[in-house]
Amino acid sequence: MRLPQSLFLLAVAGTSARASSDKVARPRGVAPEFAKFYQDTKTFTCISNPAVQIPYSAVNDDFCDCPDGSDEPGTAACSHLSRNSPLTVADRPGHSELELTLALPGYYCKNKGHRPSFVPFQRVNDGICDYELCCDGSDEWARPGGKKCEDRCKEIGKKWRKEEEAKQKSMTAALKKKKQLLAEASRQEQEIQDNISRLEVEIKDADAKVQSLEANLKVVEEQDRKVVRTKGKGKVNALAGVAKARVEELRESIVELRQQRDETLDRMKELEEILSKFKIEYNPNFNDEGVKRAVRSWEDYAARDLGEIINDAQERDFDEIVKADDKDSGVDWEHWENEEDGCADSDLVYKLAAYLPPSLVEFIEDKVLAAKAFLEDNGVLAKPSTDSTTESKAVTEARDALKSAQDSLNNLNSKIRDQQSDLEKDYGTAGIFRALKGQCIEKDAGEYKYEHCFLDSTKQVAKKGGSVTSMGKFTKIAMTTVEELNEAGDVITVEKIALEYERGQSCWNGPNRSTKVVLECGEQNEILKTAEDEKCVYSMLVTTPAVCRGPEDDVPRSKDEL
Ligand SMILES: *[C@@H]1O[C@H](CO)[C@@H](O)[C@H](O)[C@H]1NC(C)=O
Ligand SMILES: *[C@@H]1O[C@H](CO)[C@@H](O)[C@H](O)[C@H]1NC(C)=O
Repeated sequence: MRLPQSLFLLAVAGTSARASSDKVARPRGVAPEFAKFYQDTKTFTCISNPAVQIPYSAVNDDFCDCPDGSDEPGTAACSHLSRNSPLTVADRPGHSELELTLALPGYYCKNKGHRPSFVPFQRVNDGICDYELCCDGSDEWARPGGKKCEDRCKEIGKKWRKEEEAKQKSMTAALKKKKQLLAEASRQEQEIQDNISRLEVEIKDADAKVQSLEANLKVVEEQDRKVVRTKGKGKVNALAGVAKARVEELRESIVELRQQRDETLDRMKELEEILSKFKIEYNPNFNDEGVKRAVRSWEDYAARDLGEIINDAQERDFDEIVKADDKDSGVDWEHWENEEDGCADSDLVYKLAAYLPPSLVEFIEDKVLAAKAFLEDNGVLAKPSTDSTTESKAVTEARDALKSAQDSLNNLNSKIRDQQSDLEKDYGTAGIFRALKGQCIEKDAGEYKYEHCFLDSTKQVAKKGGSVTSMGKFTKIAMTTVEELNEAGDVITVEKIALEYERGQSCWNGPNRSTKVVLECGEQNEILKTAEDEKCVYSMLVTTPAVCRGPEDDVPRSKDEL
């Protein structure tokens, strides 16, 4: 029951006086809470205007005496006065705003068997039975034009109680669902908190890993540089150094072997000469079988054509190889030892071979390939790569490990940012809409089907062809006002929670589609209706238990609670 604030206060103030005065019959149309103003049976004092006093007989005499209409609680005589919106002072000079407002909420119907209520004064004795407000028909007490309104409170009351019971039942169910939504919302919120805590730990670990890998990369890079430095001015130089030493070794061996060979040949010649002389000078008449056998063997040996022991061509090669002068030997070691790393190592290794004498190439190729693989595997040489970087495998691996650790750290940071920003988002009182986010409901409407996904989007789907038109994406939860009829049939303005959806598909020659989803308490999540209020500006009326208000919600709330 909506009462003007001033009257409400008066009614409360007067409660103590009432008990003793209930014996006095109330004039017609007066509610029990206003009875105290009508106790004096001689003089009536206008309720809001105590300065105006009239004889008691003027109460309910069908003539409006009081500026607040309080002298006519049972007739329509003062019904011209406004109840909700007071006339302005200018309309009636000399009276305050309060004076021009009806002091009483209306004609009081007892409605025995149902519940009492007030009928607006202009409906008193207007010849129409206002059963929805006055089921006992007492508003037509004067029977204008012989009209009699019978008392229907028994049946109306019964029907009302049944409906009320169903409503209560539905409300109880809705509040139960709301409780579940609240529990789910709080569970999700807790989950996000847990996620954030977990991510914080993971980020700390990942951060430490990145730092250690950064340090590791530095060390490996430093080692990489050192390897090269100790071997010479570059990797090629290091390789050239190794090759030069080996070639030097081989050359020395060849020189030594040739010396040994030549010495051996000299000794052989000496022996052959001794044996030749022996053959000529020995005395065949001496019948010594041992000597004879030796001479025969010598003859066999000498008869065999053993060919030239020393091959001239080979000798020339050997001469070539053993030349001490680097330039004459065909290898420009100086060039290689001072070469800057200009191109890929692998290329240089092959080029190196081209500088060697042919007799060495085969040896070098075998050995170099093996050596190269060894050097690569040990990080001295980088594996051949297309981008011709000269980084060693160890450095590349360290760099890759760091990169992947950084990537996962970035990933974790973005995850925690998402969770933190979600936690700061407005999800309504107690975050209840968290639990509904993403849930979709739809409603058939002729050739279309409308869809509402909570805190996500609104859509219009053509039943033929199924083309989907976006009617907006969720932007915010807001308060909105809607006009409704109250029980007395008056238009009143009510505040409701609305979900706003914007930037839907653009309209030809118009704005981008948008939808305001006005929420109403209901047991189910359900679209009641969809309307296009203006071109491409839609409104949906949706019921949900999320906005139902139980007894525990009936505390004054402020907008920023939402
Ligand atoms: C919490 O983290 C898990 C794993 O990353 C994720 O699947 C879940 O959706 C997160 N919870 C919420 C409520 O966002
Ligand atoms: C519709 O939205 C697009 C971007 O989504 C924007 O560029 C355009 O200006 C909007 N049109 C109107 C009329 O607001």
